[in-house]
Amino acid sequence: MPTLTPLLSIQHTSKTYDGTPALVDAALDLMPGEVHALMGENGAGKSTLIKILAGVVRPDRAEIRIDGQPVSIHSPKEAYDRGLRFIHQELQIVPQVSVAENLALSQPYPRWLGVLVDWRKLHQQANRALERLGISHIDPRQSMARLSVGDRMLVKIASAFANSTQAASIYVLDEPTAALNAAESQRLFAVIRELKTQGCGILYVSHRMDEVFEICNTVTVMRDGRVISTQAIQQTSRGGLIRLMTGREVSHAYPPRTQPHGQQVVLEGHGLLNGVDFQVRAGEILGIAGLAGAGQSELLKAIMGALPATVGTLSLEGQPMTPAHPADGWEKGFAFVPQERREQGLVLSRSVRENISLPHLRRLSTSGVLLDVGRETRLADDLSKQVRLKATSNRQLTRQLSGGNQQKVVFARAMAGQPRLLLLDEPTRGVDVGARFDLYTLIRQASIDGTAILLASSDLGELLGLCDRILVLRRGRGATVVKAAGLTQHDLLALCYG
Ligand SMILES: Nc1ncnc2c1ncn2[C@@H]1O[C@H](COP(=O)(O)OP(=O)(O)OP(=O)(O)O)[C@@H](O)[C@H]1O
Ligand SMILES: [Mg+2]
Repeated sequence: MPTLTPLLSIQHTSKTYDGTPALVDAALDLMPGEVHALMGENGAGKSTLIKILAGVVRPDRAEIRIDGQPVSIHSPKEAYDRGLRFIHQELQIVPQVSVAENLALSQPYPRWLGVLVDWRKLHQQANRALERLGISHIDPRQSMARLSVGDRMLVKIASAFANSTQAASIYVLDEPTAALNAAESQRLFAVIRELKTQGCGILYVSHRMDEVFEICNTVTVMRDGRVISTQAIQQTSRGGLIRLMTGREVSHAYPPRTQPHGQQVVLEGHGLLNGVDFQVRAGEILGIAGLAGAGQSELLKAIMGALPATVGTLSLEGQPMTPAHPADGWEKGFAFVPQERREQGLVLSRSVRENISLPHLRRLSTSGVLLDVGRETRLADDLSKQVRLKATSNRQLTRQLSGGNQQKVVFARAMAGQPRLLLLDEPTRGVDVGARFDLYTLIRQASIDGTAILLASSDLGELLGLCDRILVLRRGRGATVVKAAGLTQHDLLALCYG
């Protein structure tokens, strides 16, 4: 029987950053009609491998073949011309321009008389690309800046799948569902299944086990820059994959509440976002659930003072409060993990240590003036360990960290101040399965220490596993609060749909 030629083969791939190896002789074959999962802990080297394929990162060494033919890929254009399409982990969008223009970024604009951009055609193309994913709520003329993180991701996904003059056969998706909810992910999977039957190959990076078992045929696991196994998905199990990725036994039980939370109401809101009322008590974890765009992020931002104007009233320990700016929030002892980690969370050009201590500088200074560098370093070191941060040191620039490790820095910063109110918006997004439960342990510990916590998440298991009560938001139709105990994921989803 003749052996099939891989659609894409990448062998002997190595890459070192300033003497630290990110990839060590990594290799992978992608077959026609295959959905191939690429898994590994945060910092294992997945995105680096993908960026080499995309012509974005120059490898120290790599042998790439497409349909058996050796090729070299030195630029994104070369990758595109060879039929590769990418959805990168960190969104490269141009927020100032419209959805349609963002959709067309990877291709030449349709022109009229060869000079003027044919807007009508551009919008039609954009509409078709969005329709393919079953998306009707995004207007192509809308500015990209006004879209939620999830909607921006949908636009990027649509652009990778947009019909182009150049035939595509290889799709490389780096955590495409990290910012999507279950329904949106299902639409993406439908497109993936369709591409699979057309004989395309799909390389798929994800930290979500469920979806890997749902849509992938094959799984390759990386650890510390090396490929350590490639197996048919039927021959693997969750536990087996986690052991391969982490090299250790990982608890995947949610840390339970060990004592009742306090009775003192820390924060109370009335009439927020057109009719949302809630209370959260000291030590309580109040979940925030809802369908995509039901207002989860807006609610947290409103509390933090990160929205320009808000309706409704807030009171903090019984005193009326009007937060004007996130700095006010931090000053009051609030801590915030925003969903847009790169835009609103991190100063990428600064070190891990500076990013962790940024809002806490006053507390870390003697007499409020001189920064106590020793304390700052110890604080950053402790927290980095607790969140399993993978960095060469705490002086490493945040820009150089992998996506999941950047998320851990945002989380570590929020925990650093022992906040009285903790606002978490998708805190485990992009965090690997091994570290995820370490973050849950830290959240539980904060609640035991009396921090009032608001946790917005599209991961229903996470909400049910950690929260005492859950605030279910329904766009424009108010909200309900339910006790988490005894609820199933199914019940919770039904409540979200109202
Ligand atoms: N520009 C850079 N400079 C220095 N080191 C880098 C740079 N880019 C990546 N690295 C390092 O390379 C290693 C691999 O990173 P990579 O982004 O490939 O991880 P990943 O497997 O995609 O992780 P994640 O699941 O968090 O996205 C990490 O240790 C990271 O810090
Ligand atoms: Mg990555």
